Amino acid sequence: MIKRNEMMDRPVIENDVREYLRKEQKQLSGELRKIEMWANERRVPIIPHETVTFFNWLLPILQPKEILEIGTAIGFSAGLMIQASSTGSHVTTIERNPDMIEKAKVNFETLGISDQVTLLEGQASDWLEKLKNESIDFIFMDSAKAKYYDFFPLCYELLKKGGVIAIDDVLQGGTILDDRSDVPRRRRKIHEKLNAFLDVVLDHPALDASIIPLGDGLLLITKRESFDFGFMLTGEPRA
Ligand SMILES: C[S@@+](CC[C@H](N)C(=O)[O-])C[C@H]1O[C@@H](n2cnc3c(N)ncnc32)[C@H](O)[C@@H]1O
Repeated sequence: MIKRNEMMDRPVIENDVREYLRKEQKQLSGELRKIEMWANERRVPIIPHETVTFFNWLLPILQPKEILEIGTAIGFSAGLMIQASSTGSHVTTIERNPDMIEKAKVNFETLGISDQVTLLEGQASDWLEKLKNESIDFIFMDSAKAKYYDFFPLCYELLKKGGVIAIDDVLQGGTILDDRSDVPRRRRKIHEKLNAFLDVVLDHPALDASIIPLGDGLLLITKRESFDFGFMLTGEPRA
């Protein structure tokens, strides 16, 4: 089943500003626009249009050759990243939901980019272990939010020095700031793990991090120095 995302209705900026960013900024064209509209009409979770225009601005500057994405869904952001990057870019993208995988494969064919995409089917944690020796220029993390904490050490290791990780939905409609006792039980794990993740990275000396209030909060990280964040996996005290 293709799931909807309840946080889509909880913008971290005022609604009229969000609508302005979505409607007045440049629209996509061709098949990518059709995929964006298809997803938005059905409320299938893809990056919102303000993040689309930001990626269309950012990626031509970064010109990543090797991109890794966690959370393919129907392949919209993977298609966007390929179109916005340098010619000859390649995306490795991980997805566990079979319905999403099926739709993503069709979309990659429609976009004519199947030969630039490696779609890894299954759990991101399994694949990240296998990718260990890759050297990635740009990583987009857009999967289960409670897992960012666990995925980050391996992603940081896979990233080239000077490379960038973009991490979506870190503000959770602003609820990330709520007191734990005010957070409904079903959302507590996400709340705890996202806060723990932000505590580690926001002022870490090995990297530069900045949260942009686009969509539900996009965290950008540049790798300045190699650093072993393995303590996050072992539960050891913070290094
Ligand atoms: C928000 S959607 C991704 C949207 C996509 N990046 C886009 O903008 O077009 C998140 C996707 O991540 C997948 N996902 C969540 N946790 C995952 C995991 N641990 N391993 C693999 N896929 C995962 C979900 O099945 C879902 O399709």
